[in-house]
Amino acid sequence: MFEIKTISLKDNRIVNIRLLQQQDAELLYNYLHNLSAESCSRFGPHPFDTESIFNIGNNLLKDDVQRYIALKDEQIIPYMLLKKGTIKADANRYAQRNTFFDETTAFTYAPSVADDYQNSGLGSKMFAVILQYLKQQRCSHIVLWGGVQATNIRAVQFYEKLGFKKIANFWHDNKDNIDMLLNL
Ligand SMILES: CC(C)(COP(=O)(O)OP(=O)(O)OC[C@H]1O[C@@H](n2cnc3c(N)ncnc32)[C@H](O)[C@@H]1OP(=O)(O)O)[C@@H](O)C(=O)NCCC(=O)NCCS
Repeated sequence: MFEIKTISLKDNRIVNIRLLQQQDAELLYNYLHNLSAESCSRFGPHPFDTESIFNIGNNLLKDDVQRYIALKDEQIIPYMLLKKGTIKADANRYAQRNTFFDETTAFTYAPSVADDYQNSGLGSKMFAVILQYLKQQRCSHIVLWGGVQATNIRAVQFYEKLGFKKIANFWHDNKDNIDMLLNL
């Protein structure tokens, strides 16, 4: 079980990382609906409507997705998803390049940070904490959930800083995207 971990941001503010709980559904709804249009256009692992979010909260125990958050002033400030295994569309693209993942050791990653906290170091430090926990779960690879949009320069740089490598570009939803992969 993931235990609460404390990290400090670039400005020395302290943040506690923990897993999402059922009672956080309303906070999650507010978080997602307060993201800027720019951030929303980059981050979409699931629908943001009330029903979908309350379903997530009600099904956490049977979920194959680990959902990490932190609270500041009673608001969620990052929301990061780690799905066990891969999603079909990602697995299919990698398979076309003759790359196949062990679904028991691969994880799929989708990060987001509230606009006011982007570039604060929160994303990188939170990933480092999550990575330690994934290593305990014998994680071998981390795949980006739906890749990253090629125009999302900050995110591409962020992933490279974390050790992800660019694998290939692909066209989806009228946009150029990049599959990036972290081999552990
Ligand atoms: C991508 C995201 C999760 C990163 O989290 P974060 O807390 O902002 O990340 P950090 O502050 O730890 O690191 C940001 C890194 O981005 C890079 N970066 C920041 N501004 C940049 C710019 N203008 N150009 C290029 N790279 C830039 C740097 O590598 C920076 O790290 P550094 O400050 O150590 O040099 C966050 O910005 C976010 O939620 N963005 C919107 C949603 C999104 O794009 N999600 C990813 C979908 S694939």
